[in-house]
Amino acid sequence: EKGGFEHFMLKEIYEQPSAITDTYRGRLLVDEGVIRMAGIDDNLERFTNAKRIIIVACGTSWHAGLVAEYIFEDLARIPVEVEYASEFRYRNPVITSEDVVIAISQSGETADTMAAIKLAKEKGAFVFGVCNVVGSSISRETHAGAYTHAGPEIGVASTKAFTTQITVLTLIALKLAKAKGTISKTDFHMHLSELETIPQKIEVALLSNDHIKEVADKYKEARNCLYLGRGYNFPVALEGALKLKEISYIHAEGYPAAEMKHGPIALIDEDMPVVVIATRKGHYEKVVSNIQEIKSRQGKIIGIVTEGDTSVRDLADYVIEVPDTIESLTPLLTTIPLQLLSYHIAVMLGKNVDQPRNLAKSVTVE
Ligand code: F6R
Repeated sequence: EKGGFEHFMLKEIYEQPSAITDTYRGRLLVDEGVIRMAGIDDNLERFTNAKRIIIVACGTSWHAGLVAEYIFEDLARIPVEVEYASEFRYRNPVITSEDVVIAISQSGETADTMAAIKLAKEKGAFVFGVCNVVGSSISRETHAGAYTHAGPEIGVASTKAFTTQITVLTLIALKLAKAKGTISKTDFHMHLSELETIPQKIEVALLSNDHIKEVADKYKEARNCLYLGRGYNFPVALEGALKLKEISYIHAEGYPAAEMKHGPIALIDEDMPVVVIATRKGHYEKVVSNIQEIKSRQGKIIGIVTEGDTSVRDLADYVIEVPDTIESLTPLLTTIPLQLLSYHIAVMLGKNVDQPRNLAKSVTVE
C-alpha cells in the first residue's frame, strides 16, 4: 500500500506530479486557452463582484491560503484576507453578502474551519470550499467548491494536499483574472503553458533527493532552524518550518526574509541553520543581501535556488536547485526540497514520520 516507499509521507511527496496532473484534469485546457471549473463558472458573478475574498483555514491549508493571497491580488486584483479559522470564528468579524469566503481543508472535517464557514453563511457571504476528501462535511456545508483530487493523504504531515490546494487556487485566480480583464491574453496563455510544465518540473526537483539527504545528515542535530522567503515564497518558508517541527520535533520558525533584522537575527550563530528560498525571481537581489547578513554572523545557509544559480552558491553552505518557472508558480517547486529535508531529518532521528506524536490527521475538535 506504500507502493514500495518506506513511509506514506515519502510516497505522497513523490505522488505530487501525478496528483497535480489529476488536479488539472478536465480543467486546464491549454490548447483551447480555457480553465474550466464548474464551481466557479456557475457562480462567476459572486466572485467578480466580490468586494473582497476572505480565506479561512488552519495549518498547512492556511499556508496555501497565504500563497493564494499573493496570486489573487497580483492577477485578479481582488483584495484578499487570510485568516486562521480559529481566530476568525471568535472575533466578531465584519462579513457581508458582498464577501466571498474560501475555506481550504484537506480533510474537510476541521472543526474550526467548519465553524468559520457556518458563521460566514449566517452573515450572508458566499462560501466556496477547496477540499480534498470528496463528500466531506466541509464540502457539503459550502455553497460551491472545487476538489483538489490529490487522492488519499495518509501521512499526518500534509504534502500533496498543499501543492494541489495551491494548484486549484491558482486556477481560480487565473479564471477570475480573465473574467475581470485584469490579465492580458498573452499573460494568461503564458500562465497556462507554464502550469502545464509544473508536474514535469516537480519530477526534476525530486531528483535532488540524494543531495537533500546529505544536507539532512549535516543538520539533523540542530536544535533550532530558521526558514526565510519573500513574496510568494514567504508562505513556503512558514510551511517548511511547520513540516520540520511536526515530524522531527526540531524547533523551527518561518519568517519573511526582510523581517529577520527586526528580531530573529539575534538568534543567528554558527549553530543555526537557515534555509533561505532564493529563487531567481521576485526579490532575488534583496534575498541575496539577506543571505550576506546571515553569513557575516556565521549562520549556516541552505539555499533553495533556481537551476544554474551562482550568486547564492558562492555564499551558501549548501544549495538545492529547482527548475526555473514564473514567480507565481515557484511555491509549487520550492516546497518540494523542504518536504524532503524534513522527511529525511525525521527518519534519521528515528521519529514516527507518518504519525507524529500528539497530532491527528483531522482535527475535529477545537
Ligand atoms: C500539517 C497539517 C495540519 C493541517 C491542519 C488543517 O502538516 O497537516 O496543519 O493542515 O490541521 O487540516 P485540514 O486541511 O484537513 O483542514
